Amino acid sequence: MSSAEELIDIETAHGSGAYRPRPLVMVRGAGTRLWDIEGREYLDCATGIGVAALGHAHPVLVQAIAEQAGRLITCAAGYYYNDLRARFLAKLTEITPPGLTRVFLSNSGAEAVEAAMKLARVCTGRPGIVAARGGFHGRTLGALSATWKAPYRRPFEPLVPGFSHVPFGDPEALTEAITDRTAAVLLEPVQGEAGIYPAPAGYLAEARRLCNQHDALLIFDEVQSGLGRSGKWFACEHYGVIPDVLCLAKALGGGVPLGATVFRRELSFEKGQHGSTFGGNPLACRAGLTVIEQIAENNLLDNVTQVGNYFLHGLQALAKTHPEKVREARGLGLMLALQLRGRAAPLLQGLQERGILALSAGPTTLRFLPPLIFTQAEAERVLSALAEVLA
Ligand SMILES: Cc1ncc(COP(=O)(O)O)c(C=O)c1O
Repeated sequence: MSSAEELIDIETAHGSGAYRPRPLVMVRGAGTRLWDIEGREYLDCATGIGVAALGHAHPVLVQAIAEQAGRLITCAAGYYYNDLRARFLAKLTEITPPGLTRVFLSNSGAEAVEAAMKLARVCTGRPGIVAARGGFHGRTLGALSATWKAPYRRPFEPLVPGFSHVPFGDPEALTEAITDRTAAVLLEPVQGEAGIYPAPAGYLAEARRLCNQHDALLIFDEVQSGLGRSGKWFACEHYGVIPDVLCLAKALGGGVPLGATVFRRELSFEKGQHGSTFGGNPLACRAGLTVIEQIAENNLLDNVTQVGNYFLHGLQALAKTHPEKVREARGLGLMLALQLRGRAAPLLQGLQERGILALSAGPTTLRFLPPLIFTQAEAERVLSALAEVLA
């Protein structure tokens, strides 16, 4: 077998240059743990950026995917109906907010957002998309036009016209930005990449009211916050606000690429207006069906709420004991952040040396997206390690 160094050299030589990963070669996962090629074990609070909702190699998911792979992997949605696609759509729309019963299936978060924006333009006949500063919606040219961060956008300008950005959480700015040329307002109920910022109380309800007033669609991008991560199926449920369109991906397939754009039954594409070769393939649908069933059967939403609250209180206590290093702790469910006064990288390194993997969200924010099966004891382990690296 090749050494870690050899494998890293190969990836570096043939990679696109778009990524600079940590010098770790991960080869195996089980539950909340990952192992690198040298056999070191890690507690995974990153889960492939919030993807492995059931943890790694969940036996029921593994069995379901293996069984499906032996039966039928591909079945183009534009040509045939499929048993697994039908079952997955029925299951998904059991848990989506009331009235959101139509679904376009794709393979990633950016694609889920692309479909949402195309749907908004085609259904309203208007070009405008109002998004939020700090928002992240993906890297394809359309989704990138909605994404806020200049370093992601600037090298690729000119982007798609018709996009504007307002300060997140400011209802007055939204009032001014929405016009009769606005097709949609696109918001993350909890901004993820920006550093885990839950929308302030009343903001999403005001966005809903303004969209109704202007006949614009309200799109929630729950690619990161959806599928149980917030302690409810969708973070918008914490606010009691139902969008017209909901974008999902990441956790939806439990690791198998799967995106979904879920929308009101009154909205629709016409034949040929959108499509995807892989979207809705039976393998991904089987994975998605299993993820939803497992979250429901194992009461993982309750687990996320309980362990998330415990974890957040622990982070808040650390913020109190280290005010010189930590600004604040925040988040919802198992979507948590520690906002630092200095750089996050040394703390991430310190955690890694203690066998814990976490993420950053911007240069000064530590982000935790553990699997939904995370336990209080595991949260406690992360908190003790953090106490050590902060000391
Ligand atoms: C809220 C949100 N939308 C969209 C995306 C893009 O998803 P993908 O990388 O699967 O295209 C992300 C990815 O981080 C995200 O967090």
